[in-house]
Amino acid sequence: MTFSDPSPREPAARASRPAAPAAVPSDAPDDAAPRSNAWQRTLGAASNPDLKLAMAASGTALSLFTVGHMAGNMQVYAGRERFNEYARMLRRAGAPVLPPNTLLWVARAGLLASAGVHVLAGTELTLRSMRREGRTVAVTARQVTLRIATVVGSRPRPALPGRPLGVPTSAPEQPTGAPTGTPKASRRAPFAGAFLPDRSGAPRRRPRGRRRTLPQLVARSMRSTGAVLGLFVGYHVMDLTTGTRPAAARSFEHGDAYGNLVSSLSRPVVAAFYAASMAALAGHMVHGLRTAALDTGLTGTAQRVHRVDVAAKAVGAVVAIGNVSIPVAVQIKVVR
Ligand code: HEM
Repeated sequence: MTFSDPSPREPAARASRPAAPAAVPSDAPDDAAPRSNAWQRTLGAASNPDLKLAMAASGTALSLFTVGHMAGNMQVYAGRERFNEYARMLRRAGAPVLPPNTLLWVARAGLLASAGVHVLAGTELTLRSMRREGRTVAVTARQVTLRIATVVGSRPRPALPGRPLGVPTSAPEQPTGAPTGTPKASRRAPFAGAFLPDRSGAPRRRPRGRRRTLPQLVARSMRSTGAVLGLFVGYHVMDLTTGTRPAAARSFEHGDAYGNLVSSLSRPVVAAFYAASMAALAGHMVHGLRTAALDTGLTGTAQRVHRVDVAAKAVGAVVAIGNVSIPVAVQIKVVR
């Protein structure tokens, strides 16, 4: 697999596209900037396709966990006894062959390793992309802070004269790469990888008054939604697993998973934080699963891209809706 312009936003499947000759051989380290030895020997030595595959594999493992976890969480609707029995069963899994908690610790180690690989590979890809664009971490951090400050303190922008907000300007259309011909033939044609938001060759700034579509927003927010999920998981484990105050409710009791969940989500701010985090989870999973399918070459035709797209949206929606239903159910006292 070769890369002409590897970037976290560019799926590896685009490697097959004809492109300008690459400046460096594809299997050479992607960036020659000096870095610490440990980092350089591990992540720094990996090619972009390797890092993307690592992200795809670890992201898929984490997504499988969230699907299974959401399904388990649904037991909360079966009542206190059933939910606590389910929590106990997770701890006893493998008994009497294995001591209690063995499989739980194996699962925890797998989750931790997947999360570590995902974050480290994502960080290295982000740093490479920034270096290629000539940006530094300090300048980018300042830009992000300024952008947040602008969003927090901004008023709605007026529409341009004669054109309501959201209507595209006369900016030249980006090539879509979508095959032409009969609908059936075009669905089977080789996929050129242009259905995901693609900034290559696009003007740096969005024309004034032109809104981003939801998929574009989701694609551009992968780092922010990832950070939200990191914060969420840290808080969540202190809240419902270790019972660490002030994250956990005052009445936290080891062994009463149902009671802990209800006391925690009875706090409106915590319930709102859980619900908002599930929106971030949905966006991150939908775009992540699509990108993983592209990067691992599962999407050879437009038809397959479409199927992957539908499947990713369905998985993201089911996980988010299932999980969001719990804080809502606790708040409206359906679960108490
Ligand atoms: C509203 C949504 C969610 C609810 C109600 C929920 C509920 C729970 C409960 C009750 C526990 C404790 C289980 C026990 O100690 O027996 C738990 C643990 C955990 N949850 Fe969630 N969860 C939700 C969403 C998520 C999401 C989205 C993730 C990951 C992205 C996640 C990751 C974890 C992890 C890592 C643990 C610790 C497992 C362990 O080490 O024992 N949860 N969750």
